[in-house]
Amino acid sequence: MLYDLIKPFIYKTDPETAHNLTLKAMKMGAVPTCGAVKDASLESTLWHLKFPNPVGLSAGFDKNADVIGASLNMGFGFVEAGTVTPKPQDGNPKPRIFRDPKNEAVINRLGFPNRGVDVFEKNCAAYLKNKAKFKHGVLGINIGMNKTQSEPIEDYKLLIKTLGPMADYLTVNISSPNTPGLRDLQKREFLMALIEALHKERKAACTGDNLPPLLVKLAPDLNAEQQEELAQTAIDAGIDGLILGNTTLDRPEFLPESFRGEGGGLSGQPLTEKSTGVISNFYKLTKGKMPIIGVGGVSSAKQAYDKIKAGASLVQLYSALVFHGPRLPNDINRGLVKLLQADGYTNISDAVGAGHK
Ligand code: FNR
Repeated sequence: MLYDLIKPFIYKTDPETAHNLTLKAMKMGAVPTCGAVKDASLESTLWHLKFPNPVGLSAGFDKNADVIGASLNMGFGFVEAGTVTPKPQDGNPKPRIFRDPKNEAVINRLGFPNRGVDVFEKNCAAYLKNKAKFKHGVLGINIGMNKTQSEPIEDYKLLIKTLGPMADYLTVNISSPNTPGLRDLQKREFLMALIEALHKERKAACTGDNLPPLLVKLAPDLNAEQQEELAQTAIDAGIDGLILGNTTLDRPEFLPESFRGEGGGLSGQPLTEKSTGVISNFYKLTKGKMPIIGVGGVSSAKQAYDKIKAGASLVQLYSALVFHGPRLPNDINRGLVKLLQADGYTNISDAVGAGHK
């Protein structure tokens, strides 16, 4: 296919340059609009939101909310834009994205480069104004703190105040490994205070009966004790859902020496099983009552289905797009329809957590 033809050129280009060119092409409408897979078995309602299919674009691809509509047109059922921070920031020195095509793996240490909340807000408003032109899908907004902020809660509050009314759901990112101290926020005491403050902010900022659900995105690098503590905290704090999870600090031995030596978060295929295991643990710990979005190394219908059976109500992906191109969401959705049929399920929601029964 077309993507296979241009793949050698993409692999020769610096990963961040290739990504920026992709965003430009998408903005210009040059990326083909794939006929999104439409099948009743893929449709689900979670919180109050209607998801046309369970495959979403994970945060980090569209940091400034530039290509929400174009991403939905690619066949994704939902798009999570961000991570956005209040002030614009450059992130870490380049190069800061590395890929290993043989293992379909990516390492990034971007450090939330983004153009800040004002640009993000304008871009979201432009998308919402023209929403009818794009395929139906759900918009998640992923928020984070500036590197220079010493009072994290203040940044998250400001972002909810400004962007909450535009979001279908909100993700509080406390798990990127590339912002110093961010992962330390994954502690009960802090999380309880943060969520209490954000619930208040959300109520003040958003009107209507259906407030955007507030999700928290966690790292996959949590030991059993931390997972247990965080699952209980999520329940006690009234978090609406979990995104499991972000990139890992692991460096499996089989990765090439030069690649595994790069600092940052690892994503793609080496993360698949680890993240599925974390999803399974949290599903059990929360007794299947807390919706989970499963993300980490999804590149096929089977891998998406494994995460769903482990307890994810929806899945997301990012790294696999680099290696498989824009047809991927549709390929996965077509495969999911077949896997559901083979197991006798009429709807995706019947398969959620099926691996535990
Ligand atoms: C990411 N990811 C990410 N996550 C997040 O919450 N905010 C962000 O800004 C980013 N940025 C980012 C940049 C790049 C280049 C990559 C590869 C990843 C993490 C991403 O959303 C996802 O959680 C992990 O990458 C695991 O999924 P995949 O990539 O294995 O499908």
